[in-house]
Amino acid sequence: MNSQLTPLLEKRRSIYALSKNVTTSKNELTQLVKDTIKHSPSAFNSQSTRAAILFDQSHDKLWDIVWDHLKSVNADAPQEALEATKAKIDGFKAAYGTILFFEDQDTVHQLEEQFPLYADNFQPWSEQANGAASMNVWTSLAEQGIGASLQHYNPLIDEDVKKAFHLPKSWRLRSQMPFGAIEAAAGDKSFLPIDNRVLSFD
Ligand SMILES: Cc1cc2nc3c(=O)[nH]c(=O)nc-3n(C[C@H](O)[C@H](O)[C@H](O)COP(=O)(O)O)c2cc1C
Repeated sequence: MNSQLTPLLEKRRSIYALSKNVTTSKNELTQLVKDTIKHSPSAFNSQSTRAAILFDQSHDKLWDIVWDHLKSVNADAPQEALEATKAKIDGFKAAYGTILFFEDQDTVHQLEEQFPLYADNFQPWSEQANGAASMNVWTSLAEQGIGASLQHYNPLIDEDVKKAFHLPKSWRLRSQMPFGAIEAAAGDKSFLPIDNRVLSFD
């Protein structure tokens, strides 16, 4: 069977060496993210996922927020460790932009009230929808030759991010995806035997 999707799934990797050397326009990238999130599935078609695409000074501001927090929580760490952390954050800042992924808690709570029988499911389903949307965006970027990785500095940065970008209170930050031109390929990846992970039955 000839799948057009499998090569794209393989192409999506965690790329950490990213630069601003991107030729795709901001408008095109924004449209790509919009289309991808629009067509990603969600429980009860609740469309609970939200995103903010940060370019230029907004992207810089995010990574300054992250570094400020890491600096203060690691104040007692050895200088070497602090420098390694700073280099890591500078690496993310060197990327072209960052996509912030959120889940709208008002949407989730409305569903919990509306469908009490499923109430316990709406939080995990919301997380799954966010995972689906962010993986689809990651793959869409890969298709365009744009590298990305998935980071989690939430909840440390949640309040400052909301304030910095004037985002609604109900948006809960779930991940940060720096993206940009690929300056170095992803490393080798090992795989567990797929036949132990996926069974099929007649
Ligand atoms: C739910 C989830 C959370 C992840 N969190 C992080 C993270 O916080 N930082 C990071 O560098 N990579 C993170 N990753 C990336 C994984 O480490 C990576 O996808 C995995 O090692 C396979 O490598 P690949 O992305 O190159 O295929 C995350 C991936 C998933 C699916």
